[in-house]
Amino acid sequence: MRKLYETREISCQPYLDQRPGTAGLRKKVTSFKQPHYLQTYIEAIFRTLRMPADSSLIVGGDGRYFSLEAIQIIAEIAIAHGVRQIITGIDGRLATPAASYLIRNRGAAGGLLLTASHNPGGPDGDFGVKFNTASGGQAPESLTEAIYANSRTINRYSTCDLPDLPLSATGTYQFGQLSLEVTDSAADYADQMEGLFNFEKMRDYLGSGHRLAFDALHAVTGPYAREVFCRRLGAPDDCILHSEPLPDFGGFHPDPNPVDAAHLVDLANSPQAPDLIAASDGDGDRNMILGPGLMVSPCDSVAIMLAHASRVPGYTRGIAGVARSMPTSRALDQVAASMDIPCFETPTGWRFFCNLLEAGLIDLCGEESFGTSSSHTREKDGLWAVLFWLNLLAELRQPVGDIVADHWGRFGRHYYQRQDFFIENLDAAQTLINELGAGLAGLIGQSVGGATITQASDFCYEDPVDHSHSSHQGLSVECSDDSRIVYRLSGTGTEGATLRIYLEKYINDAGKLAMPLGQTLAPLADRAAALARIEHYTGLSRPTAAI
Ligand code: G1P
Ligand code: ZN
Repeated sequence: MRKLYETREISCQPYLDQRPGTAGLRKKVTSFKQPHYLQTYIEAIFRTLRMPADSSLIVGGDGRYFSLEAIQIIAEIAIAHGVRQIITGIDGRLATPAASYLIRNRGAAGGLLLTASHNPGGPDGDFGVKFNTASGGQAPESLTEAIYANSRTINRYSTCDLPDLPLSATGTYQFGQLSLEVTDSAADYADQMEGLFNFEKMRDYLGSGHRLAFDALHAVTGPYAREVFCRRLGAPDDCILHSEPLPDFGGFHPDPNPVDAAHLVDLANSPQAPDLIAASDGDGDRNMILGPGLMVSPCDSVAIMLAHASRVPGYTRGIAGVARSMPTSRALDQVAASMDIPCFETPTGWRFFCNLLEAGLIDLCGEESFGTSSSHTREKDGLWAVLFWLNLLAELRQPVGDIVADHWGRFGRHYYQRQDFFIENLDAAQTLINELGAGLAGLIGQSVGGATITQASDFCYEDPVDHSHSSHQGLSVECSDDSRIVYRLSGTGTEGATLRIYLEKYINDAGKLAMPLGQTLAPLADRAAALARIEHYTGLSRPTAAI
């Protein structure tokens, strides 16, 4: 009989495919279930980090299929590596922003976030592991690359046997040298939000006939939404849709966007549309904002937040600067310029905001992919964004559509759409990008679809804080008619390749601010497809999804 808590070494073969993508290591559940697969990656993390003895670690995630097994495996390896405390949420569930907050708030050495974010869950779905550092932010590229390099050499790992961890209720338990704390992270999170927003005003707003609908898509945010919107703001219970977290998200693709959450667009367009409709993703870091008759583009949302930041208690002290990912529209830049504050342009992926936030250079940031957040945490934060909008509505007492229209009236409108092309053959996708990249310089000055190409570049970023370089972060083509096309390959998928094409056209003509989006961008979409010869390389004549 093996003794509990006794460290032992297990021999294994290294896996060579554990390179993290845009946000951690994501693979099919079936990959993670291969013998020693998760163990190898966790061992690589511990070997790379060399955490101080007696460290605390936050471990938890979106509760997707395989999470409970993963937490048990991680705890057993962690104790063998000297970790003395693990903090997690009820049933091992921690929304990503809540985990980030816990890491900072509890002075933990870091966090292992078990999530594949907005990717589908279940036995045939995806699983993921993301390491966040003591700052609460995602590990930088230098660290994830070092973990990857280590993972390719692991032929043994240290672990021990623990009894099944009791995760179903809050409490503190001792297992040998390991203390396990199961915390009510929804309450911790709501406390933090009370410090940022005007809860009294929002309670008045909701108490005076205004309605909210929040869709948790059977993912992690249900209990958080219940705590914040129902218990603390007095909204009725039935304003939270699909609130029970389920390991397969009840079959939902937990991605709050107009394609995967089309039912919310239908609700917004119906005569019964509530004043604010919102949703979050699998792990609670994304947000979708809708009002009667419209969805707010995430690019506009962050710009509108900046324009109105002084109305929200947590931000009245001022905003030092802002940032957006490169493919995100320049709506934010416009507002930042009017306020005379810097607007940083980073590569895609939240981790690139972390140094800027940590150095105090920015207070607000966002990505087109439905991610928005501020200096209150080091991750994007879905419910925070919903609260920001609710606070704005309570303050302005205007419909969402009027707030957006006023914004366009003042700053002009950045018509924006992302087109995703799912390509089975990864090599074909890579060839398309390589060929387009190689020919970029020759494009400048060429005339396409009635406009002239004024700039064409392969985005390279130098981090203003640690001066690290990230190259090949997307190809960007700008045209003389105030339009821009960006091309890049997704780094979060688990099969084939997804080519993302981002279309943006700026119009500042009062009579042309409410034109249909698809129609307005159609010529630009044709131009984008022709320049990259998409059909030639992939056989696809139209996008798999337009978001
Ligand atoms: C996608 C989004 C990106 C986001 C990431 C994690 O990455 O485009 O903005 O940070 O998910 O949520 P991609 O699949 O494009 O690499
Ligand atoms: Zn997410």
